[in-house]
Amino acid sequence: MLVAPSILSADFGHLARDVAAICEGGCDLVHVDVMDGHFVPNLTIGPVVVEAVSKAATKPLDIHLMVQNNSFFVELFAPLKPEYISFHIEEEKHPHRLTQKIRSLGIRPAITLNPHTPPEIIEFLLEDVDMVLLMSVNPGFGGQSFIPSVIEKAKRLKVLIEKRNPNCLIEVDGGVNDVNVKELAAAGVDIVVAGSFVYKHPDGIAKAIAELK
Ligand code: DX5
Ligand code: ZN
Repeated sequence: MLVAPSILSADFGHLARDVAAICEGGCDLVHVDVMDGHFVPNLTIGPVVVEAVSKAATKPLDIHLMVQNNSFFVELFAPLKPEYISFHIEEEKHPHRLTQKIRSLGIRPAITLNPHTPPEIIEFLLEDVDMVLLMSVNPGFGGQSFIPSVIEKAKRLKVLIEKRNPNCLIEVDGGVNDVNVKELAAAGVDIVVAGSFVYKHPDGIAKAIAELK
C-alpha cells in the first residue's frame, strides 16, 4: 500500500517542518488539498503556499483539486511539476480534454469521484488517466468518518480498470485508518490518503505511515 498523507492536517504555522516530517517518515506522495470555497465549503491554499510545500518535500506532490474552473487551476499549479493532478468529474464538462491538457504539461492526470458518483461514469476515460481518486468522505474537511460504500465502489472500479487500463491506480481519500486500510487493500486500492490518522497518531508520523503500509 502506498501512503499519501494529506497536509490539510498539518500545523500550517510550521508547514515546511510538517511536510519534511511525512517525507522523512516514509510517505510515498505528499497529498495537497486545493479548495476554492465554491466547489466545496472550505478554502485552502494556492500556488504560493504549494511552492513552499514543494521546496520542503522530498517526495512527489499529489494535487487534489476541489475547485470550479479546473483548467485555470491546472495552469496555475503545472509549473510546480506535481506527479499527479486530480480533478472532480462532477465539476468538469470536458474531462477528456482536461486529461489531455494535464498530460501535455508533463503531469499524470487523475480523476476524482465524490461518494455518490458511480465508477461506470468514467469507464471511457480510464485509458486516459493514471489514477482514479475515490472520495470516502464528502470533500472539504479533514477528520470526517469513512463512508463504507467506497469498498464496493473500489471493487467495481477495479474490474473496469482491468478491462480498460490495468496500469491505472486506485487512490482512496478520507477517514482512512489502520482498520479500514485492510479492506481497502483487499478491494484493490493502491494508494491511501490519510490526514488526521498520520498527523495525530499518538506514536508519531513514521509509526502511522508504517501501520498503513
Ligand atoms: C478532504 C480531503 C482529504 C482529507 C483527508 O476533502 O480531500 O484529503 O484532508 O483527511 P482525513 O484523513 O482526516 O479524513
Ligand atoms: Zn484530498
